[in-house]
Amino acid sequence: MARLAGKIAIVTGAARGMGAAIARKFADEGAIVALTDVLPDVEATAKAIGPAASAYLHDVTDEARWQDIVANVVARHGRIDVLVNNAGILMFKDVLSTSVAELRRVLDVNAVGTFIGMRTVAPHMIRQRKGSIVNNSSCDGISPANSLVAYASSKFAVRGMTKVAALELGPHGVRVNSVHPGGINTAMVNPQQAPADALNRGMTWFPAQRVGDPVEAAHCFVFLASDESGYCMGAELAVDGGLVAGHYYFGLPGAPQGVLPPARAPDQPASK
Ligand SMILES: NC(=O)c1ccc[n+]([C@@H]2O[C@H](COP(=O)([O-])OP(=O)(O)OC[C@H]3O[C@@H](n4cnc5c(N)ncnc54)[C@H](O)[C@@H]3O)[C@@H](O)[C@H]2O)c1
Repeated sequence: MARLAGKIAIVTGAARGMGAAIARKFADEGAIVALTDVLPDVEATAKAIGPAASAYLHDVTDEARWQDIVANVVARHGRIDVLVNNAGILMFKDVLSTSVAELRRVLDVNAVGTFIGMRTVAPHMIRQRKGSIVNNSSCDGISPANSLVAYASSKFAVRGMTKVAALELGPHGVRVNSVHPGGINTAMVNPQQAPADALNRGMTWFPAQRVGDPVEAAHCFVFLASDESGYCMGAELAVDGGLVAGHYYFGLPGAPQGVLPPARAPDQPASK
């Protein structure tokens, strides 16, 4: 039996990367999926998935467009069972060089876009007394790194609003959970499309010692979208090769063998 049989889902940021992998996996598991993205490529991605998929041009910061898309999906299918707030942008800049406009832009797409999505879809799920919202945060929404002040702020916001929504919507049968990827091989982290083998050599601080495939992340979304996770509410699921589990003291027992440790004293924590 397909794990998402008959479910109606919306996945944002689905033209490529993790969103496309999620939409594809959802369709494989029996869902009908609406893919949305600012990129026109979303049409081709939906077409490649097949008749279970449809495409919408969509900027997640545009509240009116959210209302159009949700109304259209409900008119076509009668309900919405799953919302995946996946669309996101990344920016590397330190605190002192990040402008207020840049901070606002990243917060707007990653955090406000997620908020509008939940706010627009939740009333339909409440009416059905059932639904699952899965928000794509990040490992940087749990344990951030330097040069990610805007991105990490936005992903902490997603993690926080997930929990508030889980508290408020849970009594209405609507579950809200967050996924926290790290090191997933997409255009966001690998814009030059370097081969995975080359990337893996630099992943010494990840317990997995390798990049993750978007499909490995998509499996987590399937679980949280499906009824298998019926008792998960406000949960955080990391899919990051172990990155947020902690850090290594290279040179002491238990650290990965045969890798070059960063130059530092043995009692200093390894940086990410
Ligand atoms: N790749 C990773 O290791 C990683 C790690 C942590 C979190 N994430 C998160 O996973 C999500 C997917 O990222 P990805 O790695 O697949 O990167 P990606 O850049 O391939 O995909 C992001 C998608 O979001 C779309 N998008 C951007 N702004 C949008 C907007 N305003 N409205 C609608 N769509 C918009 C893009 O066009 C793109 O298709 C993001 O939220 C990202 O922050 C990724």
